[in-house]
Amino acid sequence: MTTLGTPLSAHATRVMLLGSGELGREVLIALQRLGVETIAVDRYDNAPGHQIAHHARTISMTDPDQLRALIEAEKPDLVVPEIEAIATPTLEALEADGVVRVIPTARAARLTMDREGIRRLAAETLGLPTSPYRFCDSQDELQAAIDESIGYPCVVKPVMSSSGKGQSKIDGPDDVAAAWAYAMSGSRVSNTRIIVEGFVDFDYEITLLTVRAVDGTQFCEPIGHKQVSGDYVESWQPHPMSATALERAQHIARTVTQDLGGQGIFGVELFVKGDQVWFSEVSPRPHDTGMVTMVTQWQNEFELHARAILGLPVDTSLKTPGASAVIYGGVDAEGIVFDGVDDALQVPRTDIRLFGKPESFVKRRMGVALAYDADVDTARANAVQAASRVIPRAV
Ligand SMILES: Nc1ncnc2c1ncn2[C@@H]1O[C@H](COP(=O)(O)OP(=O)(O)OP(=O)(O)O)[C@@H](O)[C@H]1O
Ligand SMILES: [Mg+2]
Repeated sequence: MTTLGTPLSAHATRVMLLGSGELGREVLIALQRLGVETIAVDRYDNAPGHQIAHHARTISMTDPDQLRALIEAEKPDLVVPEIEAIATPTLEALEADGVVRVIPTARAARLTMDREGIRRLAAETLGLPTSPYRFCDSQDELQAAIDESIGYPCVVKPVMSSSGKGQSKIDGPDDVAAAWAYAMSGSRVSNTRIIVEGFVDFDYEITLLTVRAVDGTQFCEPIGHKQVSGDYVESWQPHPMSATALERAQHIARTVTQDLGGQGIFGVELFVKGDQVWFSEVSPRPHDTGMVTMVTQWQNEFELHARAILGLPVDTSLKTPGASAVIYGGVDAEGIVFDGVDDALQVPRTDIRLFGKPESFVKRRMGVALAYDADVDTARANAVQAASRVIPRAV
């Protein structure tokens, strides 16, 4: 039986979010709707989730001492990692000592924070189909890996990076040196390891949101998305798939999430060509492309996550086809303003979310436009149109 408390009382159910950006903020809102007391943590002040939660804390989450001290002081019932860059060995130690429960598990947070852990698990331990890959620690090793097994074209990514940082495609021998240098500039930590993957010439790619909840494993409808320089710019749901491809996608998602274990939502990224499906990566948390579910599902991915981690049943059913389109900052400035939100909302069946980030960068995601419609194509066109009418401006 699940028992929930009253926030700010002695019997509160307390949940700490590690990472309080736009995705964390929505999880916090979903938790608060269930009367959960929330602690939002981020590395900078006034992060989107800080502005929502009962308690806002600013620490370096990659610093083991700061992370341990905060968790020991706050004593949350659950710790919910919302980003990858966290001192995950500290979470594993605290979980092993019974100090806290980590969502979905501390091991899942560690394995998915670097590309090597999750790729070896998926391909070598679980035998799931992936692109061919090798790990390399120098440009010479990269060249050898390409010559010996991977071939051209291929993709290079730092093992410690996300959102396409340091990632590039190699079409031939002339690109290798630049790809290596770019990967070194984009790695999250001073780690020189990269993965080189054979380029998969897919027809389309999807995120299969997979929920492990008290009532078993459930799948959302596939989310299609468009990536530009490794960053998602548009997503839509449902994405049509052949019955065979969908079955394979669900098999892959079930297998990998079962191994990672625990409860919560996972964003399983897959490449599809005809009936063939490749595992790409998985986030043990809500996925950025899943923001579309704020308009398409009865319970969006944040509500699904909140329910699953609290031990409550979930409903993954689709409400309507729909789409999302990203609103970038367009400028490097603090405290920007957004013109044209009224014009944007003139586009039929659309909605806007502005994340309230204190500082804008040209390529920082500052908001998202959402659209629903009878068909995905109309929703996509309208979401893009609405997003384009929102004009961020420095003042
Ligand atoms: N082996 C590959 N073959 C073809 N395309 C690829 C390959 N690897 C990555 N891509 C493309 O680059 C995008 C980003 O790659 P990936 O998801 O591995 O990086 P990421 O930095 O984790 O991105 P994000 O954090 O946005 O998910 C993929 O969604 C896909 O469009
Ligand atoms: Mg990805």
